[in-house]
Amino acid sequence: MLMALALLAAGACSPSDDTAGDATTSTSEATTEATTEAAVDPADARPWLDPTLDTEARVELLLSEMTLEEKFGQMTLVELGSIDVDDIAPLGIGGLLSGGDGVPSQYDPSAPNEPAAWRAMVAEFQAEAASSRLGIPLLYGIDAVHGHGLAEGAVVFPHNIGLGAAADPDLVRRIAVATADEMRATGIRWNFAPTLAVVQDTRWGRTYESYGQDPDLTARLGAAFVEGLQSETAGGTVLATAKHFVGDGGVEFGTSLVPGYLLDQGDTRVSEDELRRVHLPPFVSAIDEGARVVMASFSRVDGQFAHGSRALLTDLLKVELGFDGFVVSDWAGVDQLTADYAQAVSAAISAGVDMNMVPSRYAEYLDALADGVELGRIDESRVDDATQRILRVKFEAGLFDRPVVDGAGAFGTDEHRALGREAVARSATLLTNRDVLPLDPSTTVAIAGPGADDPGMQAGGWTQSWQGRRGHLVGATSIIDGITEVTGQQPVHLVEPDDWNEIGTIAVGIVVVGEDPYAEGVGDVDRPVLSEADREVISRMRSIADSVVVVVLAGRPLVMNDVLDSADAVIMAWLPGTEGGGLADVVFGVSPFTATLPVAWPASVDQLPIGPESPNDVVRFPIGHGVTTE
Ligand code: BGC
Ligand code: BGC
Repeated sequence: MLMALALLAAGACSPSDDTAGDATTSTSEATTEATTEAAVDPADARPWLDPTLDTEARVELLLSEMTLEEKFGQMTLVELGSIDVDDIAPLGIGGLLSGGDGVPSQYDPSAPNEPAAWRAMVAEFQAEAASSRLGIPLLYGIDAVHGHGLAEGAVVFPHNIGLGAAADPDLVRRIAVATADEMRATGIRWNFAPTLAVVQDTRWGRTYESYGQDPDLTARLGAAFVEGLQSETAGGTVLATAKHFVGDGGVEFGTSLVPGYLLDQGDTRVSEDELRRVHLPPFVSAIDEGARVVMASFSRVDGQFAHGSRALLTDLLKVELGFDGFVVSDWAGVDQLTADYAQAVSAAISAGVDMNMVPSRYAEYLDALADGVELGRIDESRVDDATQRILRVKFEAGLFDRPVVDGAGAFGTDEHRALGREAVARSATLLTNRDVLPLDPSTTVAIAGPGADDPGMQAGGWTQSWQGRRGHLVGATSIIDGITEVTGQQPVHLVEPDDWNEIGTIAVGIVVVGEDPYAEGVGDVDRPVLSEADREVISRMRSIADSVVVVVLAGRPLVMNDVLDSADAVIMAWLPGTEGGGLADVVFGVSPFTATLPVAWPASVDQLPIGPESPNDVVRFPIGHGVTTE
């Protein structure tokens, strides 16, 4: 089926010969109707397809043709592993998504993780949508939050926290352009990024999804991402999603409702003034820059779930900020509102959620919508408004004019790798340097530590899977490979106990330590400290090397005063992604260190959380710290 439908990739959304051909062999009611439609001139039957009409006119023409059930369908976003492909047309499903583990094999076990297979899969879904009564194209969304991390061979860029350290909107814009390109190569036009959380407590597992503690920097970088991602190219527009609305960066430690989580999906207990001053500005900028989708936050604001808050989603976002795109819920976020699912659906839709990332129980959701309207819990005008918003964004993104992208889009190219490498060098933050860096490329170097040869650790969560994993990544350069490339000589890699015994003494030892990959609340921690095992490798290196350079791969600052005091240089590399060469570039002076901390670095775990206003003398390093070698 995948193969056959790839043929449709070139087709438009109007009823095509292929669709009619399919329909004649189908017994389903919806497709029979599509056949009938195909007999008449599509321009007459579907006047909204006329691209010369303005968007609002097209939306109205289409909306006036829709049944209530078709509107419900548009308000539905289903996850790849849960969709029955035969439901797409009859239910008029509005969108599908890849969750954190949503690679093509989740849908078709034999599908490889290759751009062509992604493209064929999305084209197949789009063809199903085209065969529905009205042929409304669907949106396919994915979390390409640091490059197209789920797609094998994609260039994975530094996570946002590293880009916050680089603090360069133009760099972020270029990364977003490259990300959009790689997405288009896989046929995907909707990105659940950027995250605009302004992190306040770095014990939060999503710290690395944030550009940092400063609302203004977050606003500038977030807007640059939106601009780059949505820039027009021959391949069509990719949509950004500003998330998570609003206040997720302010969740208070210990308030999560998810067992095992500490902060994520917790409560942001701030005054309205603080919410507006700290957490709202990035959304204002992103919307100004043209963000057309906003994702609601799992978190609560002062005890009130964002997903059920009319004050936040409607009064603030839609009315006050004038946002006329659509609000998507987060993954089953609606379900959390009350134990009674039907009531939760009514509450969320009435509050202002337009499209529900169900993600799996869509039959139940569609029933709940129908009941909600029938019982008067959901106003029909709210359903029209939600549908209008979704259609508006689909028209604007060119989805009706070109529902399937043709694969034009560079993927894993040298150019993108060079950009990734530049971003790695620009984000590497030099915390201390006792006259050791940059190293002369002819220096004899030994290297050790869990991150020395581990692209998976460099990339962190949202890479190949939701939680990410240690190990090899297709097309990636590990730090050791980067060093070999830059210096022309392979550093001695100390792995086994014998390696250490045999080496004697050495001029410089590099130790790469840090955190294992994680995502979301799984990464919430009580005590963000450098592990005992990592400290041991560092002290072992100290015993054989004249100088020790420590490189930290982590999504947040780790308390490590002893290491900061004793190492000759410490580099916070954040989660740099696949291009380890960028790290070698700064270590060996090919590029200067220019980055500065986007979050304060704690002197002890007891002082967390340290807000941007914490006095500089209590923290180990204040926000803005970074040794530059320019
Ligand atoms: C996350 C979102 C993400 C969504 C889809 C949720 O768990 O909170 O950031 O976009 O999953 O993968
Ligand atoms: C999905 C993620 C989602 C998470 C939420 C995972 O299985 O892959 O996208 O964010 O569940 O619990």
